[in-house]
Amino acid sequence: MEMWVTYYFCNVIGLMIFPLVWWLLWRWNDIWHVAPVIRRCSKVNYKMPPGKLGFPFFGEILTFMWYFKILRQPDDFINAKRRKYGDGVGFYRTHLFGSPSIVVYSPSVCKFVLHSSDRFKQEWPTIEALGSNSVITLQGERHTLLKNFLVNALNHRDSLTRTVEQVQPSIVAALESWSKKGKFIAKDELRKATLEYIGKYFAHLELDPHKIDALDKAFVGIIQGFRAQPWNFPGTAYHYAIKVIKILREELEKRKADADSAEAKSNDLMGRLMQTKDKEGKYLEDEEVLQNLLSSIHIGYTSITDTVGWALYFLAKSPGAYQKLLEENLELSKQKGGEHITYADILKLKYTNKVVEETIRKANISGFVFRKSIDDVEYEGYVIPKGWQVILWLRYLHTNSENFEDPLSFNPDRWDERPRFGTFLPFGGGARSCAGNMFTRFNLAIFLHYLSIGYKWELLNPNTKIKYLPHPEPADGVAISFEKY
Ligand code: HEM
Repeated sequence: MEMWVTYYFCNVIGLMIFPLVWWLLWRWNDIWHVAPVIRRCSKVNYKMPPGKLGFPFFGEILTFMWYFKILRQPDDFINAKRRKYGDGVGFYRTHLFGSPSIVVYSPSVCKFVLHSSDRFKQEWPTIEALGSNSVITLQGERHTLLKNFLVNALNHRDSLTRTVEQVQPSIVAALESWSKKGKFIAKDELRKATLEYIGKYFAHLELDPHKIDALDKAFVGIIQGFRAQPWNFPGTAYHYAIKVIKILREELEKRKADADSAEAKSNDLMGRLMQTKDKEGKYLEDEEVLQNLLSSIHIGYTSITDTVGWALYFLAKSPGAYQKLLEENLELSKQKGGEHITYADILKLKYTNKVVEETIRKANISGFVFRKSIDDVEYEGYVIPKGWQVILWLRYLHTNSENFEDPLSFNPDRWDERPRFGTFLPFGGGARSCAGNMFTRFNLAIFLHYLSIGYKWELLNPNTKIKYLPHPEPADGVAISFEKY
C-alpha cells in the first residue's frame, strides 16, 4: 500500500514538474536576455519588439531550419511571425545562430539600419577568414579608403568599359567549350570559367585547369574550413587562405622585381591596389593588397557563378522571356557584324537589363546581412537592444507581394516600372553597400548576350528542389544539356 502511495505521489509530482521545466526552458532565453533590457528601458518607456527567443542555446534555429530545409519556403519564417504577432514595427525579436537577434523585414527599418553605421556595426558570422585587412572586415578610415578604391575600380564607367572589353573573349571561349561537352553541371563549369577570367582580369593570373581546381578548392576551404585560430594545417580556413595568398604573392613579388614588365605597368586590380596611397601618402602594405585581392576574387567569381547559374535556370523555365531576350540580342549581333559588344551597347539592351534585374531579385544570393547594435537603439518606441545581432532579411523585401506583384514568378517586364523606394536592396545599402553591383550586372549581361545568340540549353532535372542553405541554389547545381544553334 505504502509503495503505491509513493508511486502515485511521484507520478503526480512528475506531471507537475515536467510542464514547469518545459515552460522554464521555453521562457529561459526571454528571462535571460529580455528581462535585463526591459529593466533598462522601462525608465525611457521603450517597448520590446514582439517575438520569442525560444529554447536556451537553440533559440529558434529549429523553426528556422523547418522553413529553410524541410518546407523550403524560407520567407514563411517571417510570414508566420506576421500572422502570430501582427505587423508590429517591421521587426521581431528571436534567437538565431547562437545570439539574441532582431529580424528586420520592412523596407523602412532595413534602410534605417543600413544607413546608421554609427549605431550598428557590421558583423559577418564567418567572414573573418578573408583576412583582417580586407575591406569586408575593416572598419573606420581604412575601410573608407579601400571601399572607395574598390567602387572606383569595379563599378565606374571607365572600369566597366574595360571590364566589358577584357572579359568578353574569356566568356565567348568558355561557352564554346561548353557546347562540346553536351551535358554538364552548369555551376561547376561556371566556377571554373569565372575564376579563370576574374583571376586574369584582376591580377593577370595565368591559370591552367589544374591551378583553377586547386584555387577553387582553396577558396571553398577558406569559407568552410575550421576557423578557430590561425593554425596552418589542412582543414583550417587559415591553411587555405595561405595557399591563395601564396599564388597572389608570387605575382606581387614578380611585379616588384621587374617594374618595367607589362604586368607591373598594367592597371588591373592588383596594379591599382599597389599604387593606392592613404591620406598620409603611404602606399598600402603588401598584406592589404593581397587580402583585398583575395576577397575581391573570391566574392567576384562565386557571386557571378551563382547569378549566371540562376539566369540559366530561370530562362530555361521561361520560354517567353528567353524568346524576347533572343530577339533583342540577335538584333544587336546583326548590327555589330561579329564585333565584340561595348559598354554603350549593353546600356541599350533594354530587355536584357530587365532580365538582369529580375534574375538578381529572384535569386536573392545575398538574402541577409548582419549587424550588431552598438547601443540600445530606439525605433518608433521599440528598442533594438545593445549587443544584439540584427538580421536584415533582404530577401523578404523581394518575395513579399506587397512589394512585387506575383513575386515568385520570373517576369522581367515588371521592371518597366521601378520598384517602390527601399523595396529592392539585393546589394545592401549605406556605407557597407556592395562594391561590385554594376560589375555583376555587366558580367551577367555579357553572358546573356552570348548565351542567347549562340546556344540553347535545357534543364536535365526541371523539378529539382531548391536548396536555401547556405545559399539559395537549385539542388542539382543546374544540370543542363547545352548545344550550339
Ligand atoms: C549578385 C551579386 C552580388 C550580390 C547580391 C552582392 C550583395 C552584397 C551585399 C548585400 C553586400 C552588403 C553586405 C553588408 O551590408 O553587410 C555586399 C558587400 C560587398 N560586395 Fe557584393 N554582391 C554581389 C557581387 C559582388 C561582386 C561581383 C563583388 C566584387 C567583385 C562584390 C564585392 C563586395 C564587397 C567588397 C562588399 C563589402 C563592402 C563593404 O564592406 O563596405 N560583390 N555585397
